[in-house]
Amino acid sequence: MKSLLSKISHSLFHHLTWKGYWEPLVQRFKPAWRDGLFRAQITSATYLNPNTLQILLSPEKKWPVHLAGQHVSLTLEINGRLTTRVFTIASGASTRALENELRLIIRIKEQGALTPHLPTLSPGQWVNISPPMGRFALREDKDILMIAGGSGITPFIAMLEDYTSKHAAKHSSNDCNEHHSSQASMKPNIHLLYYAKQGEHLLIDELSNISSKLPNFAFRLLTKANDGDVERYLPEFNSYEWMVCGPLSLYGPVSKNALANNISLESEHFTALLPTVFDSSEEEQTFLIQHDDKVLHVNNQQSLLTQLQQANVSVNYGCGMGICHQCQCVKKQGIVRDMRTGELSDNAEELIQLCVSQAITNLELQS
Ligand code: FES
Repeated sequence: MKSLLSKISHSLFHHLTWKGYWEPLVQRFKPAWRDGLFRAQITSATYLNPNTLQILLSPEKKWPVHLAGQHVSLTLEINGRLTTRVFTIASGASTRALENELRLIIRIKEQGALTPHLPTLSPGQWVNISPPMGRFALREDKDILMIAGGSGITPFIAMLEDYTSKHAAKHSSNDCNEHHSSQASMKPNIHLLYYAKQGEHLLIDELSNISSKLPNFAFRLLTKANDGDVERYLPEFNSYEWMVCGPLSLYGPVSKNALANNISLESEHFTALLPTVFDSSEEEQTFLIQHDDKVLHVNNQQSLLTQLQQANVSVNYGCGMGICHQCQCVKKQGIVRDMRTGELSDNAEELIQLCVSQAITNLELQS
């Protein structure tokens, strides 16, 4: 029934869904209400350093519980147009439960489509967010080496926040218990190697605070200029599982070492920019697409959903016509064409719908 109403709405009123038709009306009572998205209210937007903004926002109650390490898309209306970018949530589910607050820590890019507008957000303003997404999560049964570069500290601070809230109290009560083995309370070990430029490490006070509460957690603040490459520190953690979040220049050597030593590696990395020169003609062309761990070829004639299905890649989907949003995934890099409007995306990270998107350049996608 819902989909029938949406089809009628699409053809008669040029709205993608029936609910979308009522958006302007509902927005009179619920600012920023949009079909398919959640609302969140800005609590504060403050600079952590000249290029990095911390945004606290309070999601509406029905926003799902997230897992520390997941990301979310943030949508703002800028000059009458909706602009969406994806950011890691830099706070844990424990803070959401206590204070109903999410934190985003965002590097402002001067030429960016969305980030230069973020400093103007004011307390009380409503924005839209997606449900939490992603599978980058902390395992608690293994010794873990976290490797962060720059703003790649954000998923780790969320994981450490939740880990501390779960285990710090237990640890201090264990300290008082003479019968408890101190070794047992110290497991698993978590070690963080955090690379940034001199003076640009973020959240140092929070990391110190966590390490004072958790004796099994330690961190090192490193700069490439003073401390050298990450490879010199990796061998001492060969018995740990590794997690890395940062630029390709950090991910590259870490993944090479993990492979060489048969070490389990979880990663979130920002890849180098693909060339922004592209041919938007409709002549058939083939591109490479990285979807999670798989690499395959796609053309610019069929939708990404069709081609992923033909390649037996498991993807969620529903209506197949851009209405239900079930095929939504994160485009990390690359340019796609919206098959409904012909509109081209930019090269940045954003949410796309696979069933109505065609590749225009090589792409990196994350489900
Ligand atoms: S929007 Fe429904 S499957 Fe793509």
